[in-house]
Amino acid sequence: MQRKSRATSRKAPRKVPNLISAKAKLGENVRVWNFAYVGGNTVIGDNTKIGSLAHVDYNVVIGKNCKIEGLAYIAPLSRIGDNVFIGPAAVLTNDPYPLSEKMIGVKVEDGAIICARAVVKAGVTVGKNSVVGMGAVVTKDVPPETVVVGVPAKPVYSREEYEKKRLAWNQ
Ligand SMILES: CC(C)(COP(=O)(O)OP(=O)(O)OC[C@H]1O[C@@H](n2cnc3c(N)ncnc32)[C@H](O)[C@@H]1OP(=O)(O)O)[C@@H](O)C(=O)NCCC(=O)NCCS
Repeated sequence: MQRKSRATSRKAPRKVPNLISAKAKLGENVRVWNFAYVGGNTVIGDNTKIGSLAHVDYNVVIGKNCKIEGLAYIAPLSRIGDNVFIGPAAVLTNDPYPLSEKMIGVKVEDGAIICARAVVKAGVTVGKNSVVGMGAVVTKDVPPETVVVGVPAKPVYSREEYEKKRLAWNQ
């Protein structure tokens, strides 16, 4: 009897364990992968994907068609537009001087790309279609259509140049 019941449990469909607050509002076709967390009063637009182990805190707004990769941390008050990519283990902060009473979120405009392990200072705006390189520490606003890298992050070339590199790589 015991052997039979073990076999049955092995065949049971696996549930994806994650924690989505009952107060979060998820659009159509939103996917939240294994062990990810989505806090209360957070709004996520259609077709956005949240990777495994990501922590999307409360009072966050994320637009449509975004990809938030695994292990990312999105602090409360973050505002993320449409078609944004946030790489693995990237961090959007909200407290410039912990532990403060007053918080300010990061704004990420449409089409921006934030690469792996970048950290963005509270209150910074990451401009439309800009790119933040892997490992960058972003302390100032990133101009639209600009690639920034380094610690602290500085502009290195344009999004147009980035797209040329991407195209060449994919060919
Ligand atoms: C921003 C990025 C696209 C730049 O790549 P690139 O244009 O190919 O850069 P290059 O390799 O031509 O490097 C040019 C110079 O910048 C430096 N550099 C490149 N990326 C850097 C970065 N993220 N931070 C600091 N310096 C960097 C290089 O060392 C090189 O310096 P040198 O001229 O003194 O030798 C790349 O760093 C990046 O972040 N890629 C995305 C990775 C990622 O997160 N992918 C998603 C998840 S897997």
